Amino acid sequence: MTEFDAPSGVDPFTPSVARMYDYYLGGKDNFAADREAAEKIIEILPNVRDVARENRDFLIRTVTYLSGQGVRQFLDVGAGLPTQRNVHQVAQELAPEARVVYVDNDPIVLTHARALLAQNERVMVVGADMRGTQALLDHPDVRSHLDLSQPVAVLLLGVLHFIPDDDEAMKIVTTLRSILGPGGYLVVSHGSIGELSEDEKREGAQVFSRTSAPGVTSRSVEQVLAFFDGLDLVHPGVVPLQRWRPETHLSIVRSGEAGAVGGVARVS
Ligand SMILES: C[S@@+](CC[C@H](N)C(=O)[O-])C[C@H]1O[C@@H](n2cnc3c(N)ncnc32)[C@H](O)[C@@H]1O
Repeated sequence: MTEFDAPSGVDPFTPSVARMYDYYLGGKDNFAADREAAEKIIEILPNVRDVARENRDFLIRTVTYLSGQGVRQFLDVGAGLPTQRNVHQVAQELAPEARVVYVDNDPIVLTHARALLAQNERVMVVGADMRGTQALLDHPDVRSHLDLSQPVAVLLLGVLHFIPDDDEAMKIVTTLRSILGPGGYLVVSHGSIGELSEDEKREGAQVFSRTSAPGVTSRSVEQVLAFFDGLDLVHPGVVPLQRWRPETHLSIVRSGEAGAVGGVARVS
């Protein structure tokens, strides 16, 4: 897209993490500023495109798994720009009655998602910042679209690493978990920048300081595990995304590189 195509309310000159991610995935919903920032990140993290693809594959596998467990309602927080095989497509292919609420704070995500989903009455798009977690949960569209007496899956995929403060990230997860009743699920995937030199870290931080997000904060497997405390972790637990119930056996995990871990847990 060129800057002239920017929908109203969208700033095409400030790189957006949603549009950078779209660029990593080979999408077309990004502007020159996004491509430039994404290319700088690719220089620092050469495998970032692979990590983005692995994250989408994890999304597809986890939604498929949850559908098999009878989950028919999904709250996808930090939904991202529509791409191929979004949550509602995977869920509704398997169970047409599945309902999805997409939440994001990026105006371009909301514009594209609403345009794509205008015809799908079982999908709702809500503009909210997950840092205002209780307000998000109290949003009338969330409350009217989801039946909280039935199982819901809360998806936090590739988004918690945009919250630098550990306590704030935990509070967001705890508040979102509060809507889950028995049979509900929490799904988290979380990025890590791997082992970088101090110069590379500084350069990466500079790129992110100009974007819509405050930066990317790596968290250890133990920290990601803590988001699931008290829930029944589904096998194989919190692992590199390629190792979460892969459909092939080609799961190469290289130490020191950027990557992401994730897991799924059930409320009993
Ligand atoms: C890397 S994309 C991940 C998209 C999708 N969940 C996936 O896994 O493919 C992160 C998304 O989170 C959104 N995001 C970042 N910070 C957010 C916040 N504080 N509240 C809501 N959405 C946020 C961004 O706008 C972006 O669309």
